[in-house]
Amino acid sequence: MELAPFQVILPPRIKFGWGTLGSIGSEAKKLGNKALVVTGRSFLARTGILDRIKASLEEAGVEAVLFQEVEAEPSLETVERGRKLLAQEACDLVIGAGGGSSLDAAKAIAGLAREGGTVHDYFAGRAIEKPGLPWIAVPTTAGTGAEATKNSVLSDYKNKVKKSIRSDYWVSSLVIWDPELTVHKSPSLTAATGMDALTQAIESYTSRGANPFTDSLARQAVYLIGNSILTAYREGDNREARENMALGCLLAGIALANARLGVVHGMAHPVGIHYELAHGLVCGVLLPYAMEYNLEVVADKYADVAALMGLDTSGLDTKAAAQLAIDRVREINREMGIPAKLGEVGLREEDFAYIIEETMPSGSTKANPREVTPEGVEDILQRNLV
Ligand SMILES: [Fe+2]
Repeated sequence: MELAPFQVILPPRIKFGWGTLGSIGSEAKKLGNKALVVTGRSFLARTGILDRIKASLEEAGVEAVLFQEVEAEPSLETVERGRKLLAQEACDLVIGAGGGSSLDAAKAIAGLAREGGTVHDYFAGRAIEKPGLPWIAVPTTAGTGAEATKNSVLSDYKNKVKKSIRSDYWVSSLVIWDPELTVHKSPSLTAATGMDALTQAIESYTSRGANPFTDSLARQAVYLIGNSILTAYREGDNREARENMALGCLLAGIALANARLGVVHGMAHPVGIHYELAHGLVCGVLLPYAMEYNLEVVADKYADVAALMGLDTSGLDTKAAAQLAIDRVREINREMGIPAKLGEVGLREEDFAYIIEETMPSGSTKANPREVTPEGVEDILQRNLV
């Protein structure tokens, strides 16, 4: 059978490896003279990473303007403030350094630099017509893969809506992925971000948009993350585990940017914003339930996931091997203190209608391998009540 046509979008240049952060100044100089450095409020400053970035930029003759205001799940207002500062200071380059939130905020600030209107307009669906400024992604968590994607996940807290603005123009100009930056992350953050990455690897592998190109990346991501996540959680300074997680996250990011995801990500946005829960934690909790929902249509791929995660599937039929993968995801969650049910972290039956309504139109939901019905989402939610 002929392959369905597909296209691939990915950052034009990726530098991966220990110590690559040291080249941020010389790399930035190739793209601009004055950089807006977009970060979270404390991690980079506290760990000295921000000082290293500033020193490298200064040495290369790139002026730095700091915007250290990105919250855990970035709001539209934060992006708007960043856009204002960018314009006031006449920056010609954006550097996003931090977790997925900082990268998503940087992406939107750079991406909307030459657009009129407010970020609210584009959040409401106005089309992006112009390329923005170049931006460099410097991830510090092995999680969202935002360094490789063209969408920025933003939150409208007033109306409780969390969704993406996306544009082909928004892929980063350069990724500098230095695994060293993840070494100081706490076990709980490693757990949540790692489960986001694992979910993204598995969902992009089984997505309706998956193709042989994305499969090769997603399978390798499942292998790297599935075999390293517990070591990275237990031994934060284990370099091999941190490196595997960083690489797995990057590969999963490229996979999802091209294959899309599934119902876990469709549900994770409304659940996350409604109960103010970390995205990765919600993904981790929901992943085994979504896999059960999808089992009948993608058992062969889940059986492959089990083998990639190092489980012994010999002598098992496809469905039994697939079940092993689901059991393993639950075991990893348990080992890392991620709740077994969303009911443990606030899910209430009275919110089901809102969650279902927000889940159904999501692009991730539509890419899920098994057709998602409101009843299907409700069933997953029911099983998450305590
Ligand atoms: Fe995610």
